[in-house]
Amino acid sequence: MNKDILKSPFVTEMSEITQLMYQRNWDERNGGNITLLLNENEVAEYLDLENIVRTIPIDFDAKELAGSYFLVTGSGKYFKNVQKDPARNIGLIRVSDDGKGVEVLWGYEDGSLPTSELPSHFQSHIARLSVDPENRVIMHCHATHLLAMTFTHSLDERELTRKLWQLCTECLVVFPEGISTIPWIVPGTNEIGEATSNKMKETRLVVWPYHGIYGAGKDMDETFGLIETVEKAAEVYTYVQAQGGMKAKISDEDLKKLADRFGVKPRAGYLD
Ligand code: 13P
Ligand code: ZN
Repeated sequence: MNKDILKSPFVTEMSEITQLMYQRNWDERNGGNITLLLNENEVAEYLDLENIVRTIPIDFDAKELAGSYFLVTGSGKYFKNVQKDPARNIGLIRVSDDGKGVEVLWGYEDGSLPTSELPSHFQSHIARLSVDPENRVIMHCHATHLLAMTFTHSLDERELTRKLWQLCTECLVVFPEGISTIPWIVPGTNEIGEATSNKMKETRLVVWPYHGIYGAGKDMDETFGLIETVEKAAEVYTYVQAQGGMKAKISDEDLKKLADRFGVKPRAGYLD
């Protein structure tokens, strides 16, 4: 007898985090999407793995993830609504053996589909797993202040990273590898997936200009915390600009002391 999936830690956590992100105003309407990689064992406690509800073709090669299980937010679904009705707004899928489709094992009960950003998520999982086998989460949202900053600040990766490090003391400690940017690209395409995942090999944060942010991490908390930290720095930047601009910053010398104290290695060449 399988346990009730609605009470599983993964559905519960997905429901809580999407609600929290909605409350933060990072996920208006259907904005944002999350994929959580699961172990077969944890899924088997809740579902019959032989029972495929339907198979959805995908138009990119996910062979490297064949047989992998993911909990994924639905396309066009509102983060606002996940908690009150998970079965309609999220789903649990397995990548088919040939990597050309995904098998729905649970959820998307109104016939809906996994996020349109599956190419970016899957390619980012592949990239992150190649550098960190513990990585289980890819999270995308429209974090407001960071999104605003893409209109007013240089998108040069070194310049943007340095600015964020200079604004809040914990930034360097939380993302010592820095933050990446890609050009504006049509969302939902393999092309934006490729650009995002190339950057994901080096940084867990990738900015989509005039759109939002991608974050990666070993679990929901870590990934949420990563995005929360960069978004906080961008919010502070917004206030600082409104108050007349930066008249001080954390110096490179102090950033180096900070890195030493917390045992992190700042991205090479990013500090003078
Ligand atoms: P989905 O509703 O397909 O997940 O798309 C939302 C989004 O944020 C696109 O970038
Ligand atoms: Zn988006």
